[in-house]
Order: sequence, then structure tokens, then C-alpha cells
Amino acid sequence: MNIQTLNNENIQLNMKDKSIEDIHAEHNKTVGQPFCENAKFKTRNVNVFYANDQAIHDVSLDIASNEVIALIGPSGCGKSTFLRCLNRMNDNIDICKITGELTLDGQDIYAKNQDPVLLRARVGMVFQKPNPFPKSIYDNVAYGPRIHGLTRNKSELDDLVESSLRKAGLFEEVKDRLNSPGTGLSGGQQQRLCIARTIAVKPEVILMDEPASALDPIATAKIEELINDLRKNFTIVIVTHSMQQAARVSQRTAYFHLGKLIEVGETNQIFTNPQHELTERYITGRFG
Ligand SMILES: Nc1ncnc2c1ncn2[C@@H]1O[C@H](COP(=O)(O)OP(=O)(O)OP(=O)(O)O)[C@@H](O)[C@H]1O
Ligand SMILES: [Mg+2]
Repeated sequence: MNIQTLNNENIQLNMKDKSIEDIHAEHNKTVGQPFCENAKFKTRNVNVFYANDQAIHDVSLDIASNEVIALIGPSGCGKSTFLRCLNRMNDNIDICKITGELTLDGQDIYAKNQDPVLLRARVGMVFQKPNPFPKSIYDNVAYGPRIHGLTRNKSELDDLVESSLRKAGLFEEVKDRLNSPGTGLSGGQQQRLCIARTIAVKPEVILMDEPASALDPIATAKIEELINDLRKNFTIVIVTHSMQQAARVSQRTAYFHLGKLIEVGETNQIFTNPQHELTERYITGRFG
């Protein structure tokens, strides 16, 4: 059935009678407020392909300085793909092609002269599964500052390791075993270690892809508290499957569906008064 016949057939029906596939096919403009005045990141007309399959369709979105923005949507809708565009992690996937414009503080992050390693120091990433290096707790955190030459001597490095672990809410738990392997910590501690490792290089933006999905409620609460704290100094983009988590930690929420950015708005509005039928169906649990 093509869209034309659908339109004719459904002409008398309102949106609620349409299938999700039909509503998605007809959607071509993001509802709400995808743009903001104090944008740190600007993305315009971003398309992402894995070989011949398109995973992201014409997404335009601003990410404001010092905001926490949550990316939500059903599995496979492109949240991780879009997130990875922001620090060029997709560069590592050969079949992945990106078109469109992505700027950080007005600079094209895909420019030929942009070094992806330096970009990733400015735009750090925390993954779903904690991935500490097979090194000591200390060396995990010291790794980035050493590579980027951020400190002049051992005592400065010690201070930076300690302050990063403190900011990540982990120092008190590990101060007596900084030389033990990072992999020997609990899952929640490992995730906080990875956050400490990320913030040690003083990034401007932190991308988090379901950072708490493998953690128990106590460890999750610690990570969420931490996100609230980190917002003072960083911009945070978080992918989450938990709508409660999105509501607790973010100021803005972006809803993706099958590669399209359907709706963006204040988190509170998205969860209490969504404007788009697809957003409403998702948050009320009618699919996904
Ligand atoms: N490395 C890859 N190679 C080929 N296709 C990929 C790759 N990564 C993702 N895709 C495809 O791109 C689409 C979006 O995937 P993505 O992982 O971004 O979704 P997601 O919203 O993060 O899903 P989830 O909530 O399950 O993590 C899917 O159809 C997926 O199969
Ligand atoms: Mg994902």
C-alpha cells in the first residue's frame, strides 16, 4: 500500500486510527523545539547510512551548553547511531556514511583538519557496559591526562586523579586501593571509574549511552546524582530506555522513531503533554 492510497483511504480518519507505520511514513518535520539559543552542538540535516540501509533520516537538533538532553525511543530507532556521530565514533565502522552538518562551537567536526582524537577529548563518551582498561584504578584515570599532556608532574597528576574520582563519587570507596585493578571493582563502581576517566581529560560534552542499564537501583541513583552534579560544568547527552531516568536527569528530551527525530521539548512537557501521536503512544507504553 503506498502513501497516496493511504492518504485517500484515511482521509476521514483522525491520527489515532492510523497505524504507527503510516504516521511514521508521513512524518517529515520535527515537532517542538529542536533548536536553542546557546547551542554547543548544532546538527543539521544529518543522514546516516550503514551500507545501503539508512539509520538516521534528516535529523536537525541543537544541544545547549550545560544542559542534560535525553535521547529516547524504541530499540533500533538510531539513538546510539546519532550519539556516535557527535564524537565521530562511527568513523570506526567502515560501512557507515554520514551526511549533513555537525558543528561544535561553530566548528565543523567532520572537517578534514579535525583530529578525531582531539575531538574525543572534548566530547567524551561513557558506554552501556563499563569498560575499564586492564590497568590499576589510578592508571585508568591517569591514562587520558598522560596522553594529552595535561599535567606537568606526578603531584599534579595525583591531584587530577583524585579530583576526577571525587567528582565521579568514587574516591572514598577506592582511596586505599588505587593501585588495584579497575576490573576488580563492582559494576557500578566500574561505571563511575569510567566516568572519572572521561572527566579527567576535562571534556566539554559527555555522551552517555545507557550508562546505568546494567546497574542496580542504588548504583543507578548514584550515577543520576552524579549527572545532576556534572551538569554545572559539562553538557551531557544521555541515551536511556528508562523514561523515569530521563525525567529525573534531563531538562530536554528528544524522541526518535525509526531514524527520524519526531519531537523535542522540555522533558516535563514531553512526558506530560506530548504533541506528536508517536511520542504519546511511546510514553504511554502502547509500543516499543
Ligand atoms: N555497526 C552497524 N552496522 C550495521 N547496522 C547498524 C550498525 N549499528 C547500528 N545499525 C543499525 O542502525 C539502526 C539503528 O541502530 P542503533 O544501534 O543506533 O539503535 P538504538 O536506538 O541505539 O537501539 P537500542 O535501543 O537497541 O540500543 C538499526 O537498524 C541497526 O540495526
Ligand atoms: Mg543503542
